[in-house]
Amino acid sequence: MSGFGAVGARLYAWFNRHPETNRAVVDLAELRAGEPVLEVGCGPGVALELAARQAGAEYVAAVDPSETFVAMARKRVPGADVRLAGAETVPFADGSFAAIYTLASMHHWDDRDAGLARLTAKLAPGGRLLLAERLLDRPGHGITPGQIGEVAARLTDFGQTGVRTVERRVGRRTLAVLVSERPLAA
Ligand SMILES: C[S@@+](CC[C@H](N)C(=O)[O-])C[C@H]1O[C@@H](n2cnc3c(N)ncnc32)[C@H](O)[C@@H]1O
Repeated sequence: MSGFGAVGARLYAWFNRHPETNRAVVDLAELRAGEPVLEVGCGPGVALELAARQAGAEYVAAVDPSETFVAMARKRVPGADVRLAGAETVPFADGSFAAIYTLASMHHWDDRDAGLARLTAKLAPGGRLLLAERLLDRPGHGITPGQIGEVAARLTDFGQTGVRTVERRVGRRTLAVLVSERPLAA
C-alpha cells in the first residue's frame, strides 16, 4: 500500500532531513499545547517532532502504511501514538482531533476520496484539516491546480467549511496547502 519498502524509506529519510517544508505546515496548523493532533503519512517523523514540541508528545498521533517509517517516527517522537495505517484506514475514533495535517502524502493514497472522507470524520467540531503538497504544473509527486479544485470540491461535499488554498514558497518549491474546518455545529 505505501510504496515505501525498508530501503526506500531509509533512503527517503536520509535525503529529506531538512525540515523547512515540515516546519511550514506545522506553523500553518497553529497547534496549541494540549490539542490532540494527527499527522497522516508521517514518514520518518520530522514534522511530527515539530508538532510534538507545540502540542506535547502525548497529544500527537500519526499513521503511515510503511512499517519502517512507523518505527522511525516512534523512535523520533517517544510518547506519540504512531500506528500502521493509511489515510483510508485511520483507526482513531471519529471526532478525535483538533487538527489533522498531511504533507507530501496525499498523492500516494490508494483512494483519495476515501482518505478525505475518513480524515474529515476524525475531526472534532471546529477542527482544522491541512493537506499540503508540492504545487506542480502537471500530475506527479505533488498537486496541480486542477487537482486542488477536485480536492476542494470533495472537502465541501464532506461538509468542510472555509475551504481555501494557502501557498508557501520553500526554497525553489511552492507548497500548496488546502486548509478547511469542520463546522462547530452539524
Ligand atoms: C513523500 S513521503 C512524505 C513523508 C513525510 N510526510 C514528509 O514530508 O517527510 C510520502 C508518505 O506517504 C505515505 N503514504 C503512502 N500511502 C499512504 C496512504 N494511503 N495513506 C497515508 N500515507 C501514505 C508513505 O508511506 C510516506 O511516508
